[in-house]
Amino acid sequence: MTNTLLILPGDGIGPEVMAEVRKVIDWFGAKRGIAFDVSEDLVGGSAYDTHGTPLTDATMAKAQEVDAVLLGAVGGPKYDKLDFSVKPERGLLRLRKEMDLYANLRPAQCFDALADFSSLKKDVVAGLDIMIVRELTSGIYFGEPRGIIKEGNERVGINTQRYTESEIARVARSAFELAKLRGNKVCSMEKANVMESGVLWRDVVQEIHDAEYPEVELSHMYADAGAMQLTRWPKQFDVIVTDNLFGDLLSDLAAMLTGSLGMLPSASLGAPMANGRPKALYEPVHGSAPDIAGQGKANPIACILSFAMALRYSFGQGDEAARLEAAVEKVLADGLRTADLMGPDGGTPVSTQGMGDAIVAALDAAL
Ligand code: IPM
Ligand code: MG
Repeated sequence: MTNTLLILPGDGIGPEVMAEVRKVIDWFGAKRGIAFDVSEDLVGGSAYDTHGTPLTDATMAKAQEVDAVLLGAVGGPKYDKLDFSVKPERGLLRLRKEMDLYANLRPAQCFDALADFSSLKKDVVAGLDIMIVRELTSGIYFGEPRGIIKEGNERVGINTQRYTESEIARVARSAFELAKLRGNKVCSMEKANVMESGVLWRDVVQEIHDAEYPEVELSHMYADAGAMQLTRWPKQFDVIVTDNLFGDLLSDLAAMLTGSLGMLPSASLGAPMANGRPKALYEPVHGSAPDIAGQGKANPIACILSFAMALRYSFGQGDEAARLEAAVEKVLADGLRTADLMGPDGGTPVSTQGMGDAIVAALDAAL
């Protein structure tokens, strides 16, 4: 089977971190015989600058065909004043929606070498390994009606939280399946005390559990209390499943527990395609960081680890994914630090390119 990969570097630091991922992809082709048929295209502000839209229909069609899409980041101050419909973020949201990538996997893992970097005490985060499963194609991000309307003399901003049973059920299944491969625990978060959609969320997650996954330990938490518990004692969690908006917030919070947003990958998965592989898009959790773009300061690790997730979830190469993750762990243990990781332990400063090269060297050394 060929491995097709569409690379969308995007804006800001996207292109420079993606250049480091390209080195890693080439390494797997040359040294492990895992060849990728790679194509590259524009998304976000860079697509808007060239085509007047953050995602062309041609790019959208291409994304539907490939085994996996790897995206850098989108957005930047240059595009802040654009009409909502052509903002860089709309390109990303269109990919998620039209590919129907309903399960967004956001691991928050604390690397030993970085346990001192968290704003929380070391013993709270050391060894942390949790997985947030965020619903990604529905909820308030996409619900109708939406808009800004006029009511009498004033404007009213409207968004709608809406979930169908089947939308909740399928992301709940993703969470339970993942839990079985990990710590066998799922905590579901919503606001069932305030929102009807939260009541339905809680009911459906419980029903799927009782009918299909009774062996997995399930708990429920209000999302605000969940945020508090995540900072109090995050190691109580294994898999957290939650809706689109709460998942957006909670995953940023969880990311920071690990010390740097520059470390965290994500996978957005949909239903299986004809070849059995899930529709999939991989991207770092961090944004386009326009303030440091083009200066060699960005940390490429989140994007490189996103490629590791692609190896695991799209290309059936779990061992090779682990090999890449081990190489990342090695360079961190060796003290190599991009600017975002320069903290209490000093370490050896490296550029974006230096980090990419070091990871490739670590892959070589471990062969
Ligand atoms: C994320 C981002 C996106 C979101 C933006 C860029 C649209 O914050 O992936 O978490 O809100 O989903
Ligand atoms: Mg976010």
